[in-house]
Amino acid sequence: MKIAVLPGDGIGPEITAQAVRVLRALDPKLEMEEAPVGGAGYRALGHPLPESTLKLAREADAILFGAVGDFSLDSLPRELRPEQAILGLRKALNLFANFRPALVYPELVQASTLKAEVVAGLDILIIRELTGDIYFGQPRGIRTLENGEREGFDTMRYSEAEIRRVAHVAFQAARKRGRRLCSVDKANVLDTMQLWREVVTAVGKEYPDVELSHQYVDNAAMQLLKNPKQFDVIVTGNMFGDILSDEASMLTGSIGMLPSASLNERNFGLYEPIHGSAPDIAGKGIANPLATILSAAMMLRYSFGQGEAADRVEAAVRKVLAQGLRTGDIAEPGVTAVGTAAMGDAVLAAL
Ligand code: IPM
Ligand code: MG
Repeated sequence: MKIAVLPGDGIGPEITAQAVRVLRALDPKLEMEEAPVGGAGYRALGHPLPESTLKLAREADAILFGAVGDFSLDSLPRELRPEQAILGLRKALNLFANFRPALVYPELVQASTLKAEVVAGLDILIIRELTGDIYFGQPRGIRTLENGEREGFDTMRYSEAEIRRVAHVAFQAARKRGRRLCSVDKANVLDTMQLWREVVTAVGKEYPDVELSHQYVDNAAMQLLKNPKQFDVIVTGNMFGDILSDEASMLTGSIGMLPSASLNERNFGLYEPIHGSAPDIAGKGIANPLATILSAAMMLRYSFGQGEAADRVEAAVRKVLAQGLRTGDIAEPGVTAVGTAAMGDAVLAAL
């Protein structure tokens, strides 16, 4: 097996280094090759997704991704900004199904800003469509109107086939869990979303054992805060999924804990923490590496079929939390936080 390791910007290199240690401990023969992406790609090779990096990603069996984003490059034209690296990889590799689990660990209930009884025991899975919607729809741009005013425009669009394939992934995932799927849309206002609801409903006929419900996205945003435990699996489009998954992450107390998998039809995948490059704490050795380590566990499970190894990594993470180790983002007041490498050491020891 060969893994393309793309650390990216900000805290990306620090957190991926810890996940690499964990993967190596499990299998010393794993082949891993690093390449620059995002701002690092732009600085090294003049492009956020250099051709050599994309080639490595295509040839690998899985991708371990850190984070991209670098404020100092925000004035570049859009196609050269760091974020284009992750968007380009998703599109080029057809990674349409994004799994974003949000799990509340018993030890971290206090880290949530919500009341303990609202979030204790929470275990939901958001499946976000990742290669369509307003993120990629054409036409888009900023144009100058006849009166000299500028106008910005983007296009929300989904084909039936795009909706159908992510719906199947979501129903199948729900089957392996609590058999409840909530599809989130805005069918009351948007035609694209009316089609979304029709297609998800039609696909649902093939899964009579899964209970399907629908919510409008504004209501879903509210329900996630009011009673998040009503959800098992949520399936939604690219933009709504971007927003709702950040919201769901905060139910768990820290965005630093949440892994993700982005898969294509063959279960080839890119694995990344859902948090960003956190430039404010980059290079300080204090970032939480657990989301990236848990992303490596998802890689073992989904791309390599090594469910047992994945269970071991997840158990090791639970163990270090039970031992009381905390990075700054999840430390209760008065608790001394450990750094990135010390957290990695503890996970390795627990493993
Ligand atoms: C995410 C991020 C990305 C997105 C950015 C970095 C392009 O917010 O993975 O959720 O909007 O998809
Ligand atoms: Mg996001």
